[in-house]
Amino acid sequence: MKVLVVGKGGREHALAWKLSLSPRAKKIFCAPGNPGTAAFATNVPIASDDIKGLVEFAKAEKIGLTVVGPEDALALGIVDAFKKEGLPIFGPSKLAATLESSKAFAKTVMHDANVPTADFKICDHPDQAKTWISTRRYPLVVKADGLAAGKGVIVCSTQEEALKAVERIMVKEEFGRTAGRQIVLEKRMVGQELSVLAIVSGRTIIPLEPCQDHKAIFDNDLGPNTGGMGAYCPAPLGTKEILDQVDTEVLVPTVHAMKRRRMPFHGILYAGIMVTGQGARVLEFNCRMGDPETQPLMMRLQTDLLDLLEAAVENRLDEFEGKISWDPRPAVCVVLAAKGYPGVVDKNHTITGLHEAAKLKDVQIFHGATRFDSRNIVTDGGRVLSVTALGDDMIAARAKAYEAVNLIKFSGMQYRTDIGLKALAPLPFPIKEITPEVVEEPVVEPEA
Ligand code: GLY
Repeated sequence: MKVLVVGKGGREHALAWKLSLSPRAKKIFCAPGNPGTAAFATNVPIASDDIKGLVEFAKAEKIGLTVVGPEDALALGIVDAFKKEGLPIFGPSKLAATLESSKAFAKTVMHDANVPTADFKICDHPDQAKTWISTRRYPLVVKADGLAAGKGVIVCSTQEEALKAVERIMVKEEFGRTAGRQIVLEKRMVGQELSVLAIVSGRTIIPLEPCQDHKAIFDNDLGPNTGGMGAYCPAPLGTKEILDQVDTEVLVPTVHAMKRRRMPFHGILYAGIMVTGQGARVLEFNCRMGDPETQPLMMRLQTDLLDLLEAAVENRLDEFEGKISWDPRPAVCVVLAAKGYPGVVDKNHTITGLHEAAKLKDVQIFHGATRFDSRNIVTDGGRVLSVTALGDDMIAARAKAYEAVNLIKFSGMQYRTDIGLKALAPLPFPIKEITPEVVEEPVVEPEA
């Protein structure tokens, strides 16, 4: 089978690499791919938002399965366009992808389906937002409604910060006009983040192993949020109790709610969870694989990814229920980012040490923002590389990942040194009870 992976980041490199290991994958194409995918796949110069170009390419090449990485292609309706032409593609429709492309919609679905989440308010005018903020006595998170590459979420400690965040999102439109048209104001939850990604097809929901992302740019979760500075899998925070709660109170009701709204969900439902003292609460939904969660997930997945995703597309995912196998060893992924990220980044610096790092056993260097510049590979954006390693335990996986990191150099390289440390520390709080009764009543006012 010919397979097409849409996208050019570390996530897409990891997906394409895993798909290339399938004995049934005759040829892998990446659109547009990156220098990392060029090592084993054919990169085609079609951008992920060029839906028409991608459809034409898939038709001409008779692509047997297309796997979509980035959310913007899904929000633009790539799945609908492929399906219209009878081209097999894994992912949600444009309508179903609203669960990620509108945070206000996602909160409304959660509220209606009684999915545990934080107290919130949706606002479409800065004055409305400011009035609500002035009546709150707890720290808030201010979220741009639309897609903002993971950067439209501003975690605030004071009312002043929340008011500034409203100004940045709605008035200055720092994350774009569309993204800032509405905002979600949310009670800031205390706990640790957990990413639970599930493959969904029809009635079948198969959660993958739990991961933990590290969104803040600096160690100890300091500094502004990024798309993700590192991840590890499995995350011990995802205990059986928590995962059971996520399954029964989050994934199942959300998939049912989407079906009731005539927006049936297929693809990856990624629940961004805050594990609090009272159990799991949803921070957000994404409708695609996480970046960087995909990198450690693909290192550990032993089941043939092509078979698995094809079964999901063909509505026979139930064949894989209870049958997905994982390398028991943990995997740690450290993102190497460019100077300036998550703001304006410094580009075009030569990267050295890639070959040496890739020679290490149980290490994969997934490329993100890189490009060829004559004979060199140079930096080309914010999240440059995802250095990912397996180890017999978390300490060994961390040591291996950082051993590889130490071999790679480029000017201005920045990375976190604490990826995976939370897996080694006990939770700072006991998880007392996991019942829906403890969910606070969300503040939802009817739209005018
Ligand atoms: N790791 C965060 C995301 O993929 O959105």
